[in-house]
Amino acid sequence: MTPARAKHDLTSARKRAEDLRSQIRHHDHRYHVLNQPEIGDSEYDRLYRSLVDLEAEHPSLVTPESPTQRVAGEPSEGFESVEHPQPMLSLGNVFDGDELREWHARVARLIERDDFALVCEPKIDGLAISLIYRDGRFERGVTRGDGLRGDDITPNLRTIRSIPLVLQTDAPRAVEIRGEIYLSRAEFDRLNEQRADAGEQLYMNPRNTAAGSLRQLDPAITAARGLDIFAYQIGWMEGGLKGGAAPAATQREALQWMSDAGLPTNPHTERFESVDAAAEFCASWADRRSELPYDIDGVVVKVDDFSLQRQLGTVGRDPRWA
Ligand code: IVH
Repeated sequence: MTPARAKHDLTSARKRAEDLRSQIRHHDHRYHVLNQPEIGDSEYDRLYRSLVDLEAEHPSLVTPESPTQRVAGEPSEGFESVEHPQPMLSLGNVFDGDELREWHARVARLIERDDFALVCEPKIDGLAISLIYRDGRFERGVTRGDGLRGDDITPNLRTIRSIPLVLQTDAPRAVEIRGEIYLSRAEFDRLNEQRADAGEQLYMNPRNTAAGSLRQLDPAITAARGLDIFAYQIGWMEGGLKGGAAPAATQREALQWMSDAGLPTNPHTERFESVDAAAEFCASWADRRSELPYDIDGVVVKVDDFSLQRQLGTVGRDPRWA
């Protein structure tokens, strides 16, 4: 082959690879995030195989963001401990509607108004995680750890199919997305059936199993555990969207932005104008929680407006705005 011909071949192979990747990304999102697949498994497998073959033919075209590279690399020796640029906080507790109203009254006193909206989200019983995207690409994922430092478990997080390796929207230069990794009860039962068949000791509960699955040195083991994520917060950011705008001014907008970017957000989230409506929503989950396919350990109630959140700030480890 002449050099000119080889170059032309590589250029068209690159185009084809990009096209296959964007199709696969689209179908991964439909399947793993929206639970609304548009094509059948065999059609998907055909696309995936075409990409695998093309990359085998032109190894120089493989990029870390390629859907074929989710489980890649050798098992690691251990995890590197890294500092969170912004601490990952915990949450204060209230146990009934009256205590929620007391919290609300305290917030109202501090910001000298009581007409603020609240966002209520199921509190997923899993593990908090920080995902860093740089130029729209997944760069690093870190456990919460003690809130100040966590472990870099990037290769394991890359195996979770609902975590996009490339964001689907215009994104800041760097953005941290926080969320909860969890194991559904169905996946937990499936793993325990496998354990039983193999005569191995059964796992205790979905949360511990999710924790153990994230701490594997071999990402191939994590990949087989069926972990999932709900994104619930935009952490720190560098730069803004095109034109400099922030992705969100409220929690509701942040959830919408993360969802548009391709991350799973919890569908049972609701915004309320009054604390009574929020209290009713929280109480309703006491009976409904078993209907969910994953465990929750309460409802998180957040002040929607970020400027009010900033005004309220944090005492110790607990934000006053949640
Ligand atoms: S907001 C400062 N939203 O709960 C706000 N946390 O005790 C802190 N969690 O370890 C986080 N679901 O991992 C928030 N929808 C949700 C959550 C949630 C579960 C966990 C979080 C953290 C713990 C806080």
